[in-house]
Amino acid sequence: MTVLWLTLAECGDDGLAGALEARGLEVARWRAPDELPGDLRGVEAVVVQGAAEGSSGGSEREGSEQEGSEQEGSGPEGLAELLRAAREAELPMLALGPGGEGVGGAAGGEAFAERVAAGRHHAMTRAFFTPRAVGWEKKFPDDLPLYRAAVELLGLGDGDTALDAGCGTGRAVPLLREAVGPRGTVLGMDLTPAMLREAVRLGRAGRGGAGGASFLVADCLRLPLRDGVLRAVFAAGLLPHVPEPRQALRELARVTGEGGRLALFHPVGRAVLAKRHGRELGPDDLLAEPNLRPALEASGWRLTRYEDEEARFLVIAVREPLSGRR
Ligand SMILES: C[S@@+](CC[C@H](N)C(=O)[O-])C[C@H]1O[C@@H](n2cnc3c(N)ncnc32)[C@H](O)[C@@H]1O
Repeated sequence: MTVLWLTLAECGDDGLAGALEARGLEVARWRAPDELPGDLRGVEAVVVQGAAEGSSGGSEREGSEQEGSEQEGSGPEGLAELLRAAREAELPMLALGPGGEGVGGAAGGEAFAERVAAGRHHAMTRAFFTPRAVGWEKKFPDDLPLYRAAVELLGLGDGDTALDAGCGTGRAVPLLREAVGPRGTVLGMDLTPAMLREAVRLGRAGRGGAGGASFLVADCLRLPLRDGVLRAVFAAGLLPHVPEPRQALRELARVTGEGGRLALFHPVGRAVLAKRHGRELGPDDLLAEPNLRPALEASGWRLTRYEDEEARFLVIAVREPLSGRR
């Protein structure tokens, strides 16, 4: 997977190439009049450097300069076609003007690079979970009492609003619905559409009295929710799959009201899970208490319960009063 970097005219890049490479993204360079790639296979983003404003790729000047000498597929038409295909594939695209403008300075370059890196991670997450969606819950059919006990610790009451973050097939939805009652709201959010399709197939969609959740495809790093709208967040098995878990904690805090609760849960402890995944449990693991406590505090949460036993991992944190924070 690469970022296709099309140079029409040499100009500054405001550190964009460096920002992409710093995130492990490979930059594949093309310069006129080289032959353009035949398709966008393996391309995850496109940068057009030296693009004149309003041009869809090659400028007229470049077109006329190359007239007669260009190979088929390398001229302005081939370029315009490639860019059209990139737009249709909804690839992140960026045009750099002759002075490097287009990125919006170093911060803009960082933001674009972050977006491309996040897109890659999303694709990997979906590729992993999509084939596992059907039958997801059959793997561990006896876990429901553990989910129930964790949901009970959220302290939800009638009419509250709760989010199941990284809800998968919505295993916790009936428990959250039970806790908030028919007047409450349950939201189920996941990055993998196939998981939510399975949740719907299992009858977990529905509002209020209908006894289910409203599902949304979203990234827990950028939730389409207003500040402070939630009373509680339930996140089972989510954080180990998120590239920037600290940012996830901040985003979950943003959408949770003062005094609201967060449950980070897994139906087995960290050591069992690490063994299951064939990896070592290092001291840097964010979910280890000495790392998690300060990470929660820095994100707007206060840790009130920490359990890491063979049979469950469970953390409860409370949203700090906003007045106490800067
Ligand atoms: C281990 S599964 C847990 C599913 C469910 N909570 C359960 O307990 O059965 C992790 C889920 O998190 C979702 N996920 C991973 N990264 C995410 C992200 N950045 N935003 C939202 N969901 C994400 C995955 O698609 C997957 O459904």
